Amino acid sequence: MKTLHLGPEEVRKVSSILANGGIVALPTETVYGLAGNAFSSECALKIFEAKERPSFDPLITHVSEELLSKPGGTLKALGEAGVIHPSTTTWKAAPLIERVMHEFWPGPLTLILPRGSNIPDEVTSGSPRVGVRMPEHPLFQEVLSLTGFPLAAPSANRFGRISPTTAAHVTAELEGRIDAVLDGGPCSVGVESTILSLEESDGELIATLLRPGKISRGELELSLGVPVGDGVGLGEKNQKIEAPGMLDQHYAPVKPLFLYPGPFPSRDHLDHWIGEFGLNGIPAFLCQNLKSAELLRPGDFRSVLTQVSDPEAAARALFSALRSLDEDSSISFIIAELPENSDEGLVSAIADRLNRASVNKPLLKR
Ligand code: TXA
Ligand code: MG
Repeated sequence: MKTLHLGPEEVRKVSSILANGGIVALPTETVYGLAGNAFSSECALKIFEAKERPSFDPLITHVSEELLSKPGGTLKALGEAGVIHPSTTTWKAAPLIERVMHEFWPGPLTLILPRGSNIPDEVTSGSPRVGVRMPEHPLFQEVLSLTGFPLAAPSANRFGRISPTTAAHVTAELEGRIDAVLDGGPCSVGVESTILSLEESDGELIATLLRPGKISRGELELSLGVPVGDGVGLGEKNQKIEAPGMLDQHYAPVKPLFLYPGPFPSRDHLDHWIGEFGLNGIPAFLCQNLKSAELLRPGDFRSVLTQVSDPEAAARALFSALRSLDEDSSISFIIAELPENSDEGLVSAIADRLNRASVNKPLLKR
């Protein structure tokens, strides 16, 4: 298959490829997604095949921002479109969910809700629930508006690998496996959406954070007025998989990635730890800030996520930095500085992604 490289002026071409059952990588504000018709089993299967994604890992369904202005409300419109189950509108918490949608959509928030009749098993991996997200990227929204159907879209990388935040990253992952890639420049957020699961039991709303992202737990709790719990597997290893995006090993470079919790110590101390763990070869360092980078030796390979304390810039740079260290053949392994625990959505998202990228490697202890 020849992959077409298209620019922003070619959204019509993109929507006609999608209308004909093709799959196209599209920019979102978080990461690039590999999109196909969310109402079509065949399109979902094509996405799974291109990504070499195991069939148990469900896809998120992306919907148009036009749904925000429907007279009966967004929840009702999603029910009528067969994306979510219409019974959701009768939940006691329906007004709260409507409020969350209006507060955070379009934007980097995915809600897991009961599935509607137009979403095939292949999209949700057989789950009776569906992930719904309304992306903010104007090109993605333009495509949604032209095609007229929702788009199933996982991140546009091969399964388990680093998510793409530029069209060139998509090409490196999926060239020849997909019909086209629409280049919308680098993604502005840089890490995937926050995933919030919503269920109702005996009239009580149960809200669970399945993946941290830019929209923080605190913001969601404030909007919903109920506590937001932790999904099974978040932070813990070897537990039941609730959102397979929470698979332990994910977002991983090919090179071994080791974590150092908190700020880097002196370079001599780092050398000592490297020796203690029996690591041989040339290290590269992923620093959270310039201060840590300055502790390294002049010739060391390094990537600095932010010059100042700026979580937005750090999140935007994260996957690109990991990818370029991974691609540098003179480096044997990567040591990443793990940010300290934080209520800030993006800081906890960075820590989450680094933890998953380094699974099965010993944590370097201070
Ligand atoms: O920011 C994002 O969410 C990006 C962009 C492209 O929108 N998408 C993304 O998709 O990160 P993906 O497939 O790489 O990760 C989505 C995660 C998966 O781990 C999947 O398991 C979880 O969402 N998910 C999707 N539907 C689900 C469902 N019905 N129940 C539980 N988890 C679900
Ligand atoms: Mg992904």
